[in-house]
Amino acid sequence: MLTFAVETSCDETALAIFSKEKGPLAEILLSQAKLHSPFGGVVPELSAREHTRNLLPLLDKLLKDSPVKLEEVDFISFTLTPGLILSLVVGVSFAKTLAYVYDKPLVPVHHLEGHIYSVFLEADPQYPFVALIVSGGHTDLYLVEDFGKYKFLGGTLDDAVGESFDKVAKMLGLPYPGGPVIDRLAKEGEPKYKLPKPMIEDGLNFSFSGLKTAVMHLIQKERNYKVEDVCASFQRTAVDILIEKAMRALEITKVNRLAVVGGVSANSELRERLKGLSQERGFELYIPSPKLSTDNALMIAYAGIERFKRGKVAPLDINPSPNEPLEEFGRRWS
Ligand code: KG4
Ligand code: ZN
Repeated sequence: MLTFAVETSCDETALAIFSKEKGPLAEILLSQAKLHSPFGGVVPELSAREHTRNLLPLLDKLLKDSPVKLEEVDFISFTLTPGLILSLVVGVSFAKTLAYVYDKPLVPVHHLEGHIYSVFLEADPQYPFVALIVSGGHTDLYLVEDFGKYKFLGGTLDDAVGESFDKVAKMLGLPYPGGPVIDRLAKEGEPKYKLPKPMIEDGLNFSFSGLKTAVMHLIQKERNYKVEDVCASFQRTAVDILIEKAMRALEITKVNRLAVVGGVSANSELRERLKGLSQERGFELYIPSPKLSTDNALMIAYAGIERFKRGKVAPLDINPSPNEPLEEFGRRWS
């Protein structure tokens, strides 16, 4: 089974051709990070315009490297929701046009579902498992009972954890995206500042805006701080919060498998500490390799294949929405 996949929900234009039997056959990804960097975050309209500019040249390049032609794929997978609506509109229109021209079925994928299934590109987790999704737009815990059966356990009430990495980086005059930069600088600093962990005792929801504000007060008060120390202190606190909540989710659900996915799962401190804990406490841990943690089209292809196998295809008048809840999407499309 062969699929062509399109991902344009945020600031990566990503295309892939993926075979169920052989794995990835061709992949291409263009990050717009440099374009958005001066603004400290993604500018939605610029993102959409870049996707429009780049999709066809990228397709051309992908097909030159691909052992199969577009005519040979069985269907087209694409990210339908959630994301920046203008960016989604560009990718969805592109997928629909190709489906029409090549007479291929269209298979929608939820972006968070894509992140969850990124772990299946490298491992074979059994159901059920808890998924901690940590990205620029989301910080959510789900119980994954099967493909399409996602139970929401908790999520952020304000900023996403990736967003807080990006905002703290901006305060420190560091480039966008802030996560990888803070990760690197934290290695050279001491986590010497004590920062608040909002809602830490409180169930499975998260709150990161207070932590971000505390970092702002810290750098206003401490004139002679070392950027590396602030990075190490912020990262230590953010990772403490994520780990505390993930461990609580395993306890509450009585499940001993944890998948940690999304851009922030590339964080080296989060990965190392979780690895240690999984050995100590005896739970199975699944984290995609850093390349598959951030947005990519292979994860959309994998989830698309799971959906197509179940006979679910979209009509030609399908339209994206900026934020359809994963639980509802799973029920509707499985
Ligand atoms: O999943 P993703 O590529 O896009 C969204 O769906 O949002 O996640 C992007 C987020 C950004 O906020 C970025 O700063 C963060 O992931 N990120 C990291 C690291 N690499 C990327 N955060 C912490 N440590 C990293 N190494
Ligand atoms: Zn993402």
